Amino acid sequence: MKLVFATHNPNKLEEIKQLLPDSIELLSLTDIGCIEEIEETGKTLEENAYIKARYVKTQYGLNCFADDSGLEIDVLNGAPGVISARYAGRQKDNEANIAKVWENLNNKSNKAAQFRTVIAVCIEDKEWECEGIVRGNLIDEKRGDGGFGYDPIFITDGYTKTFAELGSEIKNKISHRAKAFQLFLNQL
Ligand code: IMP
Repeated sequence: MKLVFATHNPNKLEEIKQLLPDSIELLSLTDIGCIEEIEETGKTLEENAYIKARYVKTQYGLNCFADDSGLEIDVLNGAPGVISARYAGRQKDNEANIAKVWENLNNKSNKAAQFRTVIAVCIEDKEWECEGIVRGNLIDEKRGDGGFGYDPIFITDGYTKTFAELGSEIKNKISHRAKAFQLFLNQL
């Protein structure tokens, strides 16, 4: 079966390819010639994931799944959530995003947060979604050089190192993304 992962990111594609059975031919957006930008105009992670997966299914007639992730902070009612990448503006600046988190958490003792991934799946005439959550706490200094986004300020429950200090091998086993993908793979 041909299955499109609605991403242009070769690293994400390769990671998932390793986990899939040989009977599935995994293709990226680039592989199917989808170079147009799919606008993520949804108000939730779910909406954005479905926008991407449904676009490919409708426009290209191919089975597809798409993911969307974000940081959700308890005392900020789940912000930045769906706008995690552009929390501090459209320039998608990680430093500025982290600075904004600190500004909004200033004086708050509860720094609990979670990363959440939603995968929307459109296969034949079925649609469903898989969710992965990793809980933890935010710290007010940056620690570690690995990872991306909010990794340097997030320590997941049961650990003392940030996601940026843990390294990709460990993070990719315990992350929100890993959990959501594992669920998805189990359902294929
Ligand atoms: P995406 O949906 O995977 O592109 O994630 C959207 C945004 O959420 C990223 O640009 C980051 O700001 C944030 N984010 C998602 N996953 C992670 C993660 O594993 N570590 C740090 N930040 C993340």
